[in-house]
Amino acid sequence: MKIGILTSGGDCPGLNAVIRGVVLKGTETYDLEFVGIRDGWRGVVEGDFFPLTRHEVKGLSKVGGTILGTSRTNPYEGERGGAENIAKTLADHGIDGIIAIGGEGTLAAANRLANDGINVLGVPKTIDNDLKATDYSFGFDTAVNIATDAMDRLRTTGDSHQRCMVAEVMGRHVGWIALHAGMAAGAHAICIPEVPMSIEEICELVSSANARGRAPLVVVSEGFTLSGMDEAYSDKGLDAFNRPRLGGISEILAPEIERITGIETRSTVLGHIQRGGSPSGFDRVLATRLGLHAADAIVDQAWGEMVSLRGTEIVRVPLADALIELNTVPRSRYDEAAALFG
Ligand code: F6P
Repeated sequence: MKIGILTSGGDCPGLNAVIRGVVLKGTETYDLEFVGIRDGWRGVVEGDFFPLTRHEVKGLSKVGGTILGTSRTNPYEGERGGAENIAKTLADHGIDGIIAIGGEGTLAAANRLANDGINVLGVPKTIDNDLKATDYSFGFDTAVNIATDAMDRLRTTGDSHQRCMVAEVMGRHVGWIALHAGMAAGAHAICIPEVPMSIEEICELVSSANARGRAPLVVVSEGFTLSGMDEAYSDKGLDAFNRPRLGGISEILAPEIERITGIETRSTVLGHIQRGGSPSGFDRVLATRLGLHAADAIVDQAWGEMVSLRGTEIVRVPLADALIELNTVPRSRYDEAAALFG
């Protein structure tokens, strides 16, 4: 069998480790042939493929980004898009199936293509950890480590000046990165999309930490909404899937905190730094295992399914299961962290 591999959507530390895992197991154990697909679904639609052998994946588990390139192309758009055209393009190149490594948007497209008869297997990735059918997605641990390190740094400068520091992290509409990095860094308040708060509630926590002689650290998720706000803050337009580009809520909060509490306050938006660089050891292992199991799933022709982490095991689930709803932070997890606020 000849299999195409693509990475699509936002990049994520661990993508290359999946590619290496698939190719090593697939070629050495099963004698499969692989091609890389350039820039996600764009490469499928345009037939942009190149041979992917053991040689191309050597040393990749520690390398950030993706050697395949990525995009947010919708495979159903454009003259050459749609399941019928794609089936023809794949047949012309002798490709029997696709491994699509991606998040919500990518897996939704993969699921639709699978329902339309294309052989697709999914591998979940996202720093946001917002996919339902996997306990953790690779990339999340790395993002949390980067954010934690950044917050440790913000705390030393905050302590020196007795300032309140507001650190904004990614995560779209779920608060996993904020919750984990905030807990790890000892934040005095963590603001996540799942739990709207008023500016007064945030300021109470800031003032209480300040009254104990601490320089307050507020961690805010980019998708956080202040009580009364209808939707997450966005002033950067829409992405290719027509979703608002998030980011900037900390710049709204910081001056308000300073005005209400009288404590000098600074904001920092961590942004894409959270997605860059080498994957953590945990993410390298998770991503590699997903790749190895994806090769097994190809041999079993588990099209329309996705490899996923359940507890400590890698299992297969229908692609549709990943798309039912977002993997949000449960109230109980937020309450654990909230016991440490203020
Ligand atoms: O989904 C991953 C993610 O990094 C989100 O946390 C963030 O909102 C978004 O992608 C940013 O996307 P872009 O790279 O298009 O700016």
